[in-house]
Amino acid sequence: TDRYVVFGNPLGHSKSPLIHARFAAETGQDLTYGKAEAPVDGFEPALRRFIAEGGSGCNATAPFKLEAFALADKKTPEAAIAGAANTLRFADGGIEAHNTDGYGLLADVERLLCAPLAGKRVLMLGAGGAARGAVLPFLDAGPDTLVMINRTPARAQAIRDALEAAGRPGLVVGPADTLDRFDVVINATAASLTGDCPALPPRVFDSCALAYDLAYAKGLTPFLARAREAGVPVIADGVGCLWDRPPSPSTGGAASGPRPGT
Ligand code: ATR
Repeated sequence: TDRYVVFGNPLGHSKSPLIHARFAAETGQDLTYGKAEAPVDGFEPALRRFIAEGGSGCNATAPFKLEAFALADKKTPEAAIAGAANTLRFADGGIEAHNTDGYGLLADVERLLCAPLAGKRVLMLGAGGAARGAVLPFLDAGPDTLVMINRTPARAQAIRDALEAAGRPGLVVGPADTLDRFDVVINATAASLTGDCPALPPRVFDSCALAYDLAYAKGLTPFLARAREAGVPVIADGVGCLWDRPPSPSTGGAASGPRPGT
């Protein structure tokens, strides 16, 4: 039996054990997956103990993602660009850092679009941890354009530079005022957490098919409200909660009214 846990603090509402138990059942894996609520200043000793006890790997969530990355011996490119890890694999006596957050977001965005991101024009607002985690998987998906704008432009430029240094050019750093016709606009800023909306280029929603706010459990954020007013057909928050049903071939794309967040 392989042993896994999620490290975080607090972990009260974590759905990780349930989700991984389902994955294990679907894929026929013999594993246990528990919660490990380490003290905020005690992640590393708790992790070393879990490894010594024979753990196979773990997930890390807030507030441990940066530390999980920092103490790893090997890092995937996604984790390196993010500067954070949500998944650690214990292999050959070492710790390997992975970051799957961006792939989760990409999958959710493509599900809502009912289409791949390839060829789409994408605007990402923000250049904090959430944006860093998403940017490499998004570039890999082959969008027509991926533009990042941030209140503090130097942070977006630093992400572009890190990508270029890793041999992954392609991120365009705003100002995006002159750009429009975005198919997807993603709010990866923390503005929704304080009930604010990041500054938006004037015609940003003109041909937008999906507006996505990474904040979750915040209901209709000011950003999503602006998108709805502008007539964006699909708006969604970061928990994968739909406010409007994406068009589906079988229903002819009828949109439902809002339903409350989870
Ligand atoms: P996270 O890990 O949630 O991304 P973070 O690393 O602190 O958090 O980054 C927060 C992001 O939200 C940054 O891009 C920040 O912009 P700055 O780099 O200019 O600080 C952005 N942000 C936070 N509040 C904002 C607001 N009211 N308007 C616009 N951007 C905001």
